[in-house]
Amino acid sequence: MCGIVGYVGHRQAQEVLLDGLHRLEYRGYDSAGIVTLGKGPTLLRASGKVAELGEKVAQHGTADTVGIGHTRWATHGEPNETNAHPHQSGDIYLVHNGIIENYKELKAEMKEQHFASETDSEVLAALVHSLYDESTPLESAVGQALKLVEGTYGIAVVSVREPEKIVVARKGSPLIIGIGNGETIIASDASALLGHTDEAIYLNDGELAVCTADTVDLQNMSAQKLSPKVEKIEASMAAIQKQGYDHFLLKEIMEQPETLQSTLKGRVSPREHKAHLGGLNMTEKQLAGVEHVLIVACGTASYAGMLAAYYIERLNDKVTVQVEIASEFRYRTFHLPKKSVALIVSQSGETADTLACLREIKKRGVRTLGVVNAVGSTIAREVDGGVYVHAGPEISVASTKAFTSQVAAMVVFGIQLAQAKSTDNKAIPKYIKELWQLPAEIKKVLSVMPPQIEEIAKRYAHYDNSFYLGRDVMYPTALEGALKLKETSYVHTEGQAAGELKHGSLALVDDRFFEVMLIRDDELLDKSLSNLAEINARGGHVIVITNSDRDIDAETVIQVPTKLTLMTPLVMNVVQQLLAYYIAVARGTDVDHPRNLAKSVTVE
Ligand code: F6R
Repeated sequence: MCGIVGYVGHRQAQEVLLDGLHRLEYRGYDSAGIVTLGKGPTLLRASGKVAELGEKVAQHGTADTVGIGHTRWATHGEPNETNAHPHQSGDIYLVHNGIIENYKELKAEMKEQHFASETDSEVLAALVHSLYDESTPLESAVGQALKLVEGTYGIAVVSVREPEKIVVARKGSPLIIGIGNGETIIASDASALLGHTDEAIYLNDGELAVCTADTVDLQNMSAQKLSPKVEKIEASMAAIQKQGYDHFLLKEIMEQPETLQSTLKGRVSPREHKAHLGGLNMTEKQLAGVEHVLIVACGTASYAGMLAAYYIERLNDKVTVQVEIASEFRYRTFHLPKKSVALIVSQSGETADTLACLREIKKRGVRTLGVVNAVGSTIAREVDGGVYVHAGPEISVASTKAFTSQVAAMVVFGIQLAQAKSTDNKAIPKYIKELWQLPAEIKKVLSVMPPQIEEIAKRYAHYDNSFYLGRDVMYPTALEGALKLKETSYVHTEGQAAGELKHGSLALVDDRFFEVMLIRDDELLDKSLSNLAEINARGGHVIVITNSDRDIDAETVIQVPTKLTLMTPLVMNVVQQLLAYYIAVARGTDVDHPRNLAKSVTVE
């Protein structure tokens, strides 16, 4: 949440910073600002999107070659210009991601200080300033201030007195330093570095760095020098551009055949009926000994976990699987069986609650495996092993391709577990075959179905309420469909197990609602059809999404052409993604930047 950029080099800083903020806008879009240092400081801030800031930059352009910028997702104080970053205190300008938990106490101690904003970040700027005298270099003042702070931060700080440097530090909020040729670019997310450099230093918690155009001096909070590890950034510019699509959301839905292939490549072998994830850091014997799998995640990633649990369980009849929402689980007095392994699922690899869970689980001595998309992210670095899902940068705030890849990667894990436990598991070849066919099946849906779904979306876009329903594997799929619709179109949507409806929610069914029922052509078909009949009998407006070719009685039936049976949820989910997208477009929402939300939830 929130995006940070910084630049020190030989180019016009405003241009680099503004471009970086546009790329980081998906992390927060309440307000934005930049400050550059030259003849004097030029501070420009605007409420709203980065484009608003762009207009100010066009009017007040400078040739300055040093500066920092920020795009905000409001935590303390409303999203207006005064609360926008950078915050100033004397010679100091600071941008901050995270939350300073003791800011009220710190503020109370600075009685003489006038605070313009309501933010915790301005208090941190003032604290640095209070420790910054003539004989103190900026990095020392920052280091001393951070010792007094409780909470989380990724910060970039500049001073008018030392305009050749940017000081950065992190605890719990990511910061990456891109090493260029005679220039250094700082960002909270690698996407802002693409096209400038592919070499970067990922700051660890408790580290501080002094960046100039040609040097990066890394230290810990006790000012001891550290040797930085320079890593390669793997993403390409194409991955963060819309490439002709109207929205990133549609682009990312359409990319799924390729991104899923990247998830499976080298990990699933249909010829040998084998699955293998390279990074688990577990021996066959250790895997064979696993008796309990815990999956923790938030939001869409948690629904991916719920869906994958059905598969892991079915593939491993002696293994128990438990799925938990990280924001709740971290505070529980939980106990895990001895032979447990925990899958930590996160697209961004930075979600605060998921990260906190990971640390809690590690404290209990349980092995943790990441199922992560963002390479080099905090969760990926802290787990004992795991798998990158390789879906590429996901820019749309609503997650689509990451979900598909997370489920697929966890199914591969389930297969690998089953292989380790028994050489004679008859179910494995069919799972492997279907996984292998999945990208082509999704491609088929994406190439023929969008016009039909767009037309249906237009017919249902006027409803302000909906239910998404499914049984068995279609239940977590329905939860994901519901989340996608509500966050992109602001339609009030509830996902439910179809069998639960008559235990209460059926009372809501009337003309203000439409219902989406996911019906799979399998042994629970008849039960699902009974639920459908119950809704029809009460005047429901049901859209059935199904792979069955039976004659189904519903207001609208979307027949999904697929030969798969086990992996149908991932094919039908693509239809739901398109439905949510086209309803959002029809309702005129800001599809890629839903109100009140931001990508990568680094606050608790
Ligand atoms: C919904 C969505 C969120 C995320 C959740 C977890 O479309 O994107 O619900 O799934 O915030 O994020 P990660 O996967 O980054 O941990």
